[in-house]
Amino acid sequence: MFDFLSQTFRNFKHTGAVWPSGDRLANEMTSSLRKSTGPKRILEVGPGTGPFTAKILQSVRPEDEFHIVEINPFFCKVLEKRLLDPFRQRHPNSTVELHESPIESAPVTGTFDHIICGLPFNNFPPSLVRSIFKRMLSLLGEGGDLTYFEYAAVRVMKAPVTSPQSRRNLRQIDAHGKRLHRQHRGSRQLVMANFPPAVAVRLFQPIN
Ligand SMILES: C[S@@+](CC[C@H](N)C(=O)[O-])C[C@H]1O[C@@H](n2cnc3c(N)ncnc32)[C@H](O)[C@@H]1O
Repeated sequence: MFDFLSQTFRNFKHTGAVWPSGDRLANEMTSSLRKSTGPKRILEVGPGTGPFTAKILQSVRPEDEFHIVEINPFFCKVLEKRLLDPFRQRHPNSTVELHESPIESAPVTGTFDHIICGLPFNNFPPSLVRSIFKRMLSLLGEGGDLTYFEYAAVRVMKAPVTSPQSRRNLRQIDAHGKRLHRQHRGSRQLVMANFPPAVAVRLFQPIN
């Protein structure tokens, strides 16, 4: 908790939250992994201190591959020490790789069956939001799913206290999200038992 707060104060633009996600949101964000059968490739973007990472690791089997992309070197160190090193020691045959990089240029290739994203999109300029979704959707294989979250009613709550430019940005990010929702058969699941309450949004890559 202290690790997360210290980074929130140093780097709010990237961290975008005051609190790591709770267990109920982590369960919802990772629910499709538990329904999946057969070998899978999983990508997590923006793990922070790792509330989703810990759940994902519970679903990783030796035949799977799990890649993690995190921009903040401090969070990368915390993740390696607390979660990834101990996991690799217990499961030496599993493939779990952490890439210290922004997702825009991360050295990940091929396609993934599941992408789980914890990025604070409402803090980003709309052009960055568009290019990050473009990259993530280019990495999502046919029939795969991409799950991200946003705080419930965040745009409505933020709008009155932000500048006109920020309000325009929030409207553009909202419109982009709605477009993706239509194009990718989106679904939304409200998780009230999170601080603050959040919505997990799932997008699907059509099978051609
Ligand atoms: C809101 S925090 C979420 C952390 C965690 N998933 C959670 O729910 O508690 C966002 C995380 O995304 C990371 N991040 C921000 N921009 C990024 C980017 N372009 N590429 C990869 N990670 C990024 C931040 O460093 C931070 O760890």
